[in-house]
Amino acid sequence: MTSDSENRVDLSNGMYGLPAGSFRLDGKMAVVTGASRNIGLSLSLALAQAGADIVMVARGAERLEDAAEAVRAAVPERRIEQCPADVGTTEGAGRIADFVHNRFGAADILVNCAHSSAKGGIPADLGILDIPDSMWIETFNTNVLGAYRLIKGLFAGHARDGKEASVINIVSGSGLLPVPVVANCPYGSSKAALWMMTRYLAVNLAPRIRVNAICPGNVSPTGEPHNATSRRMLPEIPMGRVGRPSEIAGAAVYLASSAASFTTGEVIICNGGRAW
Ligand SMILES: NC(=O)c1ccc[n+]([C@@H]2O[C@H](COP(=O)([O-])OP(=O)(O)OC[C@H]3O[C@@H](n4cnc5c(N)ncnc54)[C@H](OP(=O)(O)O)[C@@H]3O)[C@@H](O)[C@H]2O)c1
Repeated sequence: MTSDSENRVDLSNGMYGLPAGSFRLDGKMAVVTGASRNIGLSLSLALAQAGADIVMVARGAERLEDAAEAVRAAVPERRIEQCPADVGTTEGAGRIADFVHNRFGAADILVNCAHSSAKGGIPADLGILDIPDSMWIETFNTNVLGAYRLIKGLFAGHARDGKEASVINIVSGSGLLPVPVVANCPYGSSKAALWMMTRYLAVNLAPRIRVNAICPGNVSPTGEPHNATSRRMLPEIPMGRVGRPSEIAGAAVYLASSAASFTTGEVIICNGGRAW
């Protein structure tokens, strides 16, 4: 027999519900690559709205400056800086890590969103066995090695010192199943590698550093299909439309925040219900 007082429900011990501010990122510092447009820009804004200071990264300095200025104007209470750099080079990744360490001390959140498909100048009828080495090298350098170099550059000290961090890698459905576009083979393969790297890092950097992925579906800055391939996919999307960059942002805020404190090595798929 237990007494009435022993049976009383206690919600004050932090074991139930959501602690206040669980989805907030106040006092956190986030690096977002690929931040000058579309999904990366949206994630930069959303993380800033949730309370984080942001370093936005892309190669094109002018467009990046405009994008950072727009986020600063939208969230003036946050510190928003931009660091033009190519994540596909050792030098670029080193520049980003130095920038963050010199100006902010350390990062708490990294979103690896920059990507390359290296499809420029590639013929539409490219054969599956005719893919040039240059496509493989560029896509893997940016999408896989770029992400790894940045994780290492920003968080090697955290792993040693037991400091917490959250990494979010942006993967793709074409890394989960082949799409009927031969030229997507290196890109899809690199995203599959990024997803597996996410899981390896999650296992080996737990419990302090969480490493997760977001898999966006077809997303365009206008919310309309951005090319013929994207239009052809519409019947496969139960929601019958492509996504808006803002519709990926909630997943990033969640994964970056303490609301996801028991989630690592996972992927959140935001694709309108398309079956991969
Ligand atoms: N949009 C979709 O439908 C879709 C679907 C599935 C997955 N994804 C993934 O979602 C992420 C964002 O896609 P998106 O469509 O929003 O991209 P996007 O519109 O093509 O923009 C790419 C961004 O990455 C930057 N970038 C490219 N190469 C870079 C490099 N080497 N170093 C630094 N920055 C670089 C670009 O700026 P600069 O060119 O100036 O460097 C730009 O800011 C990518 O990882 C992509 O694979 C997108």
